[in-house]
Amino acid sequence: MKNIKKVIITGGCGFIGSNLVKYLLKRNYFVINVDKLSYSANLYNLKDLNNKRYILYKADINNQNLFLKILKKYNPSIVFNLAAETHVDRSIDSPKPFIHTNINGVFNILESIRFYKKNTQKKIKLIHVSTDEVYGDLNKSKKRAKENFPYKPSSPYAASKASADHLIKSYIRTYNFPAIISNCSNNYGPNQFPEKLIPKIIFNILNNKPIPIYAKGLNSREWIHVEDHCRALLLLASRGKIGQNYNIGSNNNLTNIKLTKLIIKKIKEKKEYMGKKVKIIYVKDRPGHDFRYAINSNKIRNALKWRPLIGLNKGISETVDWYINNIEYFKSISYKKNLLRLGTKI
Ligand SMILES: NC(=O)c1ccc[n+]([C@@H]2O[C@H](COP(=O)([O-])OP(=O)(O)OC[C@H]3O[C@@H](n4cnc5c(N)ncnc54)[C@H](O)[C@@H]3O)[C@@H](O)[C@H]2O)c1
Repeated sequence: MKNIKKVIITGGCGFIGSNLVKYLLKRNYFVINVDKLSYSANLYNLKDLNNKRYILYKADINNQNLFLKILKKYNPSIVFNLAAETHVDRSIDSPKPFIHTNINGVFNILESIRFYKKNTQKKIKLIHVSTDEVYGDLNKSKKRAKENFPYKPSSPYAASKASADHLIKSYIRTYNFPAIISNCSNNYGPNQFPEKLIPKIIFNILNNKPIPIYAKGLNSREWIHVEDHCRALLLLASRGKIGQNYNIGSNNNLTNIKLTKLIIKKIKEKKEYMGKKVKIIYVKDRPGHDFRYAINSNKIRNALKWRPLIGLNKGISETVDWYINNIEYFKSISYKKNLLRLGTKI
């Protein structure tokens, strides 16, 4: 295993993390997954992974002793940080875990890498996965946020991600810290916890539950397939410029209601679901709900020749197929415990 590139992925049992684990294993990396296995992690996401180049540590990224031990043991060349609390509605009800993981956890990773680098002189870089939500609400403008757009987070989730980005940027400037930040738009694809919009719509349709849509369903998001995101992350790790941040997006915005109708259409095209009755209900909006996110991702497109390769139509079809063919995935999640609406009481 001497010449194999070793990488740490934190949060590798979650949605994007598990897709990245598989993506990198296919490309012959040795993957060390550090995940505390919170509610949104699912071992189903990595089932059948019988690979000598993969190891899982059930651990909190705030555990500095363990994180340092893992760095020293494996000498990875890259740390992809995807461990996070990620659901905006949860951040409205209880922001504390968002501070713990998304800010303190990132601080701990920064300090661990700084200490490790100082003591070993080894080459290592941090690819930190942030979000387009740091730029805040672009509202009804036609604008797309570039990398230098001012940060204006609206929810405790977005603010915790913005804080971490600022902290990393300060480490880059002060310590010459080897980090790259990615700010990606909304992802979709296999393995996503069904509190998020797309798997929730699919879950509700398959289980004969009405589909709740916030307000009038006109909020707009830029959707990208998770595999396009994973490909961009590997590209950033191999050819991205240290110290920079890169937007990753598809340029493809859709309102929630249009997206919902597209998914309903895709499911109804399946023989077994033809003629199925589906009900959409409009529910009270989430407090502070951003109307529109949209990013300009020309920087990664021009500098690294990255492009999204999976169009929305095909991507949504395949995603619907994945959830239908992996109905066991939904069965592993308790509806009462995890899927009731949150973020309404303020
Ligand atoms: N999902 C999206 O659309 C999207 C878009 C842009 C950016 N992002 C960012 O990508 C990253 C991954 O998002 P996701 O959608 O896969 O999230 P997810 O909620 O599906 O997975 C998060 C994972 O992190 C783990 N985790 C949480 N706290 C931890 C801790 N303290 N220590 C170790 N592990 C911990 C969880 O157990 C889980 O496996 C996040 O940083 C998120 O902000 C997500």
